[in-house]
Amino acid sequence: MKFTPFARARRLAAGQHAVVTGGSSGLGLALARRLAERGLSITLLARNEAALASAAAQITKSVPAAIVDCRVADVADRAGLEAALEFLPRGIDVLVNSAGILREGYFETLPDSDFRDVMETNFFGTLNSIRATLPQLKQSGGRIVNIASVAGLTGVFGYTPYCAAKHALVGFTESLRFELEPQGVRVQLVCPAEFDSPMVDALDRTRTPENREHTLTIPKLGIDELADTTISDIDAGHRTIIPGTKTQLLVAAQRIAPALGNAIARRRIEAVYTDPRSRS
Ligand SMILES: NC(=O)c1ccc[n+]([C@@H]2O[C@H](COP(=O)([O-])OP(=O)(O)OC[C@H]3O[C@@H](n4cnc5c(N)ncnc54)[C@H](OP(=O)(O)O)[C@@H]3O)[C@@H](O)[C@H]2O)c1
Repeated sequence: MKFTPFARARRLAAGQHAVVTGGSSGLGLALARRLAERGLSITLLARNEAALASAAAQITKSVPAAIVDCRVADVADRAGLEAALEFLPRGIDVLVNSAGILREGYFETLPDSDFRDVMETNFFGTLNSIRATLPQLKQSGGRIVNIASVAGLTGVFGYTPYCAAKHALVGFTESLRFELEPQGVRVQLVCPAEFDSPMVDALDRTRTPENREHTLTIPKLGIDELADTTISDIDAGHRTIIPGTKTQLLVAAQRIAPALGNAIARRRIEAVYTDPRSRS
């Protein structure tokens, strides 16, 4: 079979249709609203029906002409997800995989079930969503946008399950793009640093002091700034998107001089580190 060139990405355009997993909250919802502002019709997908309805209402309140549909499904449940996406009123041009969960804590106290849950949602959930929509994305010459994290590019204290799943997602995305782009499907990877969202509100109630100190090496971006820059980079067709200039610089520094990056991280962690024998 002939190897076709890696095509330029199509721009986002009115009349296209986007499926957004995790579209009821946080970054998924913020991106869905911006896609609706550009005239795309939206299907939001998540597990909680009431939260989906409230998200759809928020979008139509700010974009009265928006066409927003909701689907209740767990991305970790392949059969349920496929059933939920089976009868959509239109083809799919954009798949945003934002559904995700977080488990934080000391490796020695986290149960294996936390590792499996995070892997099932953050990694296999994305894989399942792509499998369920790929025929339509190939037909439209569409795009896949996987929301990973800076935690998919580096290690973070307390994030052994989360980093494992996000690193898997980064490797998966960077491999998949070589296979799908010659078939006309753009594959984009977004790696944000920490931003305020319901996920982080929950994390703040229980996170280890070492995790707080380590993650905040990178200053937080506000969700609006994050979503604005992410949408414009998605539209421009960028393959790997690291929102925020400071985050880009810190990720680049970590790659060029990992020993320095690790030394800075260790200093911050040491300042709050508690002896494992005295942890409650
Ligand atoms: N917040 C951060 O600092 C940060 C930083 C970097 C990357 N990220 C990534 O960005 C993405 C969005 O995070 P966020 O902070 O916006 O989180 P959020 O506000 O907690 O939203 C998570 C969304 O995912 C949905 N979801 C979770 N598990 C699901 C499942 N099994 N099936 C279907 N939907 C599911 C949730 O709805 P239901 O619970 O109703 O299903 C919700 O809509 C995640 O992939 C996260 O890992 C976040």
